Amino acid sequence: MNGVLNDRSSALSLLETRRSAKPRELTGPGPSPSELERMLTIAARTPDHGKLHPWRFVIVADDQRDAFGALLREALVEHDPCATIAHHNKEDEFAHYAGQLVVLVSAPVPDHKIPVWEQELSCGAAGMNLLLAAHALGYVAGWVTGWRAYSERVKSAFCRPGERIAGFIFIGHASRDMEDRPRPEFGDVAMQWTPPAL
Ligand SMILES: Cc1cc2nc3c(=O)[nH]c(=O)nc-3n(C[C@H](O)[C@H](O)[C@H](O)COP(=O)(O)O)c2cc1C
Repeated sequence: MNGVLNDRSSALSLLETRRSAKPRELTGPGPSPSELERMLTIAARTPDHGKLHPWRFVIVADDQRDAFGALLREALVEHDPCATIAHHNKEDEFAHYAGQLVVLVSAPVPDHKIPVWEQELSCGAAGMNLLLAAHALGYVAGWVTGWRAYSERVKSAFCRPGERIAGFIFIGHASRDMEDRPRPEFGDVAMQWTPPAL
């Protein structure tokens, strides 16, 4: 599809044309504090078996980006002691991508009757809802992970024990015309159920 992307003229058109941005291609400004609160409130309106809200949104303030960059630098040394200067520079760029950074944390309640799998699904739904909320408010967002999401050093800076980073979600504006990416064919992802022979 090469038509209009992120068409906000109706709820359906937004759902049918929503397209994430690559965080490295975002430009500012990010949402205002009240817009961000609105987005996160919408994002929290998510299916959640057991009403556990097993996820959190950690907001990284603009003036904390240097600290985030320093954290990534230390984490990268641990993750890859042979990391090149170019790799370190790339992480510093990541830490300073434009827009608002929200770290989505999966916070499942252990030993609960609701399986952790279902709690993690709810976290993914909350992330998707955050993208939708950001786009509905006229921003574009992008959800990325990479090695940083799995680094113990980075994890310990955002998560409590037992939690995990589900993603780094950057919210800003597109710096250039966006293109869609290939989408699955309907018939490849939707099928009629065949009951088993009993
Ligand atoms: C949990 C998760 C992690 C992701 N991590 C990355 C990543 O590290 N790098 C990347 O390029 N895309 C990553 N993506 C995919 C991006 O969101 C990507 O831009 C995607 O193509 C957006 O598709 P959309 O336009 O349908 O939202 C990730 C997606 C999810 C759900």
